[in-house]
Amino acid sequence: MPRFDDADFAVVSAPGTPRTEGPNPFAAARPGLSRGNSSLAIPGGDGNTVEVPASRSSISDAAALMHNLSLSPSMKERRGSRNSFGTSLPIPRSPRHSRSRMGPRRPEVSQDILASQVQDMSKEKVAAAKNMAFAFDIDGVLAHGNEPIEEAKLALKMLNGDNELGIKIPYILLTNGGGKTEIARCEQLAGLLESPISTDQFIQSHTPMQALAEYYETVLVCGGEDFKVREVAETYGFKNVVHPKDILAWDPTVSPWGIFSEKDRENAKPRDFSKMKFDAILVFADSRDYATDFQIIMDLLLSENGKLLTRAKDPVASRIPIYFSQGDLVFPTNHKGPPRLTQGSFRIAIEAQYKALTGVDLERVVYGKPERATYTYADEVLKNWMEQIHNENTLPQHVYMVGDNPQSDIIGGNMYGWNTCLVRTGVFQGKEGENDAHNPANFGVFENVLEAVKAAVRKELGQDFKLKWNPKVNPVLHGDGTSAVE
Ligand code: G3P
Ligand code: MG
Repeated sequence: MPRFDDADFAVVSAPGTPRTEGPNPFAAARPGLSRGNSSLAIPGGDGNTVEVPASRSSISDAAALMHNLSLSPSMKERRGSRNSFGTSLPIPRSPRHSRSRMGPRRPEVSQDILASQVQDMSKEKVAAAKNMAFAFDIDGVLAHGNEPIEEAKLALKMLNGDNELGIKIPYILLTNGGGKTEIARCEQLAGLLESPISTDQFIQSHTPMQALAEYYETVLVCGGEDFKVREVAETYGFKNVVHPKDILAWDPTVSPWGIFSEKDRENAKPRDFSKMKFDAILVFADSRDYATDFQIIMDLLLSENGKLLTRAKDPVASRIPIYFSQGDLVFPTNHKGPPRLTQGSFRIAIEAQYKALTGVDLERVVYGKPERATYTYADEVLKNWMEQIHNENTLPQHVYMVGDNPQSDIIGGNMYGWNTCLVRTGVFQGKEGENDAHNPANFGVFENVLEAVKAAVRKELGQDFKLKWNPKVNPVLHGDGTSAVE
């Protein structure tokens, strides 16, 4: 299996791993050492991870945003709220293959044979098809919550082989969503979009955070429905996973306004938390009980080295790290009005509370788009996916990010050197002919994902490329311009 090399990232390795040349920002981030304004400590892992320098500040932006927490911040302010510099985001050295997955459905054998004959006749187009790829955002591009966007079904079908070559054009799904296992979400999406979706072509906001399991043993994991994030964290290899409701089950007075149902009681795992030392806080998805999550996160941030019920004399020196899986402030749903608040807004509230209680800016790490670590990880997933579908471990040169959120999908794709397509089916509400003023999509703005896919495929494979497989195609005639493909 291919492995990341440090040289691939231009970063240094985690402690314990062989190093390439250059300074080690990780080491400088340790307590007692200083590097710029960062002092966020990341304990050493066993070396199976690589750290990518953050492209945004690890310092809270609460102060800048406190004046407009209840308003819709301007694009400029939102972007300002998301930049970070000075810390590292560990990601897995190579994508881990899932134990089970929704494998790509094999086309009919007869189509396979016919398609390979057609492909033999069109070597240039085949090479171009393998040299392009898509990274799709989900919410606002492929679906709105549990409702599929119809055009997305057609786009995926075409990329899965319903095209004149009968060839799979590689694509991955790159979402800031999360809260359940990759397997569960892929199964759900496959049903919704009527296409097979493999976990090996799928990245949720918290997927790269599995690397943190090599650094932290006991973690508080927040967000998502029911207790699903517990399963996510355990799948990632965290040894001792605590859900906020476990703490409520142990002592309901911890959160005076918390929500605790009978179902919660059945599933919670209360233990004696007065003796437990937490190593880190991980927010994997949107909170379903803000009161409890705010309270317990704040308790831990203010505690003496992650021990509940304690208060540190110097909360900054003894603070345990906190990681958020993504930073989007709003996201599109099936709500008829404007986009709804999401994890980034929750984070800003935590930052504001922390600043108000301590007078100090909170250091935190935010994964997800537009963070570079997420795109770096996406490249590796894409390469692996290419190996699975085409038996070639290569990275396509022309990657098209199709997204609805200029603040995450587009700015991230632009910074990473991808082609970016902004669609009008989600967060972006610009008028026809308009691009986003602050983070314009470099390939253009499209009505929906299908239009973006068509434009990109035609740019790479030719304007006359047929977006439909013709089961009656004559491979002998194909390639000389007399194909019967519609
Ligand atoms: O919470 C925001 C998240 O749902 C956005 O997902 O697919 O648009 O990156 P996506
Ligand atoms: Mg989106």
